[in-house]
Amino acid sequence: MPKTIIIFFGPPGSGKGTQAQMLAQKTEWKKISTGDLFRAEIAAGTEAGKLADKYIKAGKLVPDKIVFGLVEKSLKQKTAGFIFDGFPRNKKQLNELLAFFKKILKKNDQVYALEVAVSDEEIKQRLSQRRMCACGKVYHLVYNPPINKDICDICGGRLFIRNDDKPKVITHRLKIYHSQSKFMTDYWQKQGRLIKIDGEQPIKKIHEEIMEKLSELKLI
Ligand code: AP5
Repeated sequence: MPKTIIIFFGPPGSGKGTQAQMLAQKTEWKKISTGDLFRAEIAAGTEAGKLADKYIKAGKLVPDKIVFGLVEKSLKQKTAGFIFDGFPRNKKQLNELLAFFKKILKKNDQVYALEVAVSDEEIKQRLSQRRMCACGKVYHLVYNPPINKDICDICGGRLFIRNDDKPKVITHRLKIYHSQSKFMTDYWQKQGRLIKIDGEQPIKKIHEEIMEKLSELKLI
């Protein structure tokens, strides 16, 4: 059976993680979120985690070498497809991923990039009210609140505010995103493999639109 690869990209807080998770639940595709991988390493206190933590707290990109190590490990899973969330984020990462695809993908396998567009103003509002669980589930105090205050609906874990969701760090993350993201739009557009989504709609509506577009492309 052909494999499907969907690459979510967009500014921090645009809802990539939320949508990637919803798509993973509807399909058998494995989600690879580099942010989640780092947070797991940080929680486990590994050397990679300690190093990544310094960069993440400052709103900077983690060095490519650490990123590749973690992604490569995740790509070994057996699955009908992958959903990337937050990778690739620069040209070097894109080239690394394309080289890997060359080795593992077959002629009928399908790769599409899904760009979630949201304004900086909306991003700042969203991230200031985001809450997260260690299990990976993401909430928003207004748009997507947990049933019980500060408690995860899925696993009962205590919700927390991410270290990098401080206003100064958010501004820096947005600056990095805007300076390094155009290559993704350009590359996938040129390949005829870019799906653009208006990320300022309600969560459910965006999910429906994504499902519709993937269905039109006969990917689901
Ligand atoms: P990562 O965790 O990937 O952070 P990010 O890309 O900055 O994106 P976010 O997770 O902040 O936001 P999101 O777009 O997933 O939005 P979400 O769904 O949570 O990476 C963290 C850090 O790790 C990076 O800064 C970097 O340091 C490092 N890193 C990661 N990958 C790397 C790589 N490849 N190379 C180098 N370094 C790397 O939604 C946000 C909020 O909005 C939530 O509260 C949610 O409930 C709410 N929301 C979502 N959708 C909507 C909607 N439609 N309407 C209203 N609210 C919504």
